Amino acid sequence: RILILDFGSQYTQLIARRVREAHVYCEIHPCTMALADIVAWQPRGIILSGGPSSVQDPGAPTVDQGLFDLGIPVLGICYGLQLMTHLLGGRVAAAEHREYGRALLHIREAVGPFLPFAGEQRVQEVWMSHGDRIEALPPGFRVLAASDNSPLAAIGDPARHLYGVQFHLEVVHTPAGSEMLTSFVRGVCGCHGQWTMSSYRETAVAAVRRQVGKRKVIAALSGGVDSAVTAVLIHRAIADQLTCIFVDNGLLRAGEAEKVAAVFANYLKIPLRVVDARSRFLQALAGVTDPEQKRKRIGGLFIEIFEEEAQAIGGADFLAQGTLYPDVIESISFKGPSATIKSHHNVGGLPERMRLQLVEPLRELFKDEVRELGRELGMPEDIIRRQPFPGPGLAIRCLGEVSGPRLEILRRADRIVMDEIREADLYDHIWQAFAVLLPVRSVGVMGDSRTYDETIALRAVESADGMTADWAHLPYDLLERISSRITNEVQGVNRVVYDISSKPPATIEWE
Ligand code: XMP
Repeated sequence: RILILDFGSQYTQLIARRVREAHVYCEIHPCTMALADIVAWQPRGIILSGGPSSVQDPGAPTVDQGLFDLGIPVLGICYGLQLMTHLLGGRVAAAEHREYGRALLHIREAVGPFLPFAGEQRVQEVWMSHGDRIEALPPGFRVLAASDNSPLAAIGDPARHLYGVQFHLEVVHTPAGSEMLTSFVRGVCGCHGQWTMSSYRETAVAAVRRQVGKRKVIAALSGGVDSAVTAVLIHRAIADQLTCIFVDNGLLRAGEAEKVAAVFANYLKIPLRVVDARSRFLQALAGVTDPEQKRKRIGGLFIEIFEEEAQAIGGADFLAQGTLYPDVIESISFKGPSATIKSHHNVGGLPERMRLQLVEPLRELFKDEVRELGRELGMPEDIIRRQPFPGPGLAIRCLGEVSGPRLEILRRADRIVMDEIREADLYDHIWQAFAVLLPVRSVGVMGDSRTYDETIALRAVESADGMTADWAHLPYDLLERISSRITNEVQGVNRVVYDISSKPPATIEWE
């Protein structure tokens, strides 16, 4: 397995994803991890990430120099390369020109199994983003590749298995980057690439059995893929010691509650307690227009209902949660947890209140791995490929007051959006598409009469992880169909607008 030490780069997660794609297990730890802990972790190889600092800065993050004497292969990326150079006696200085964007890399030498490129492949497009650069090699190192602006763009000391690259091989703008990372983790570090979801399934089932023993677990389904895979995996491990609850809060999309119930009951044969709490949620939301208030009330009521249900089955010892690796990284990363932009509604607060321990079998996985695991568990594709849907549901897409009639308008509009996106074969290609109901009335004309109705905003984004997103460039004829169907078929809406904001500075959901 591979250890990735994080120096605060926005790309560190991507390094981990690429390594996992090579079927090699890896974890990200902060660069402050003690040398003794690193040794105890027994990595086959270590990757030093990029980062925003300059090695010359006072207080710049660093590592114990002993790291390079362990005999474990090390790959430094950008800041990681500069730090390695600096610590091992080379020279790093501010480059005359900041280099940012695409560059051509000329590979001079493939040393051992690293950078195994031949012939025309020796010229590769790579992605640069740095202010400092290497001016002099540390003793023992040689140049493996150069770009116009970085004569020392890749360097290595094959005898000590130390390598470094100035460019970012983890981003898609370095097309051969995955191949380069694979050559490091497999070729240089000797990892075999046995990390697959079918072996993970067995390990995870055994781990759940060990953790839970004969005790009881309770799980809440949201309809999304993470909570569903969590429940199925735990059910596989402990069968009827697990109770699954699905709260119909009235904030779901058209047909959703029925679908989840049917899949669990008929297809997966996992008993599900469906709680109809539609009127309780509407009551709790009556008169509330502030987004954070909506989220808090929904979260609070969810906890209340969950406690009631737990009591009804005579209590539980564990709570299942579909926490994924990116959430874990977020809370341990070198930069520290980021500021709260929105209070996300998971089942936060519950474990303390009910004195439950957590079972989180997906804690080590990325979203694409969760989907793969779902397939290994025999789950249906339409659950596995489902676009993300927020816990507070349509309430945060119904701007202004959430009422039964307004939710119904939104649900109808949303169904049209989903149908048309599926029809256009775009469902699997975009991260999320949905309708938002705005409390903005405008004048329209229908037949011979004047209308004064509300507005639907259409939101469709492309994203790799939901952290950043671009608005999707949907074809005009698709936009036209969606707009005309909504204004014709949904009473109460006379105008449709398309949201062309990216995240940042906007967010994906409107509240
Ligand atoms: P934002 O709006 O913050 O959303 O750009 C990023 C991603 O997270 C989803 N989202 C949520 N998911 N509970 C969830 O489980 C929530 O409270 C929540 N709020 C937003 C959103 O749909 C998008 O995919």
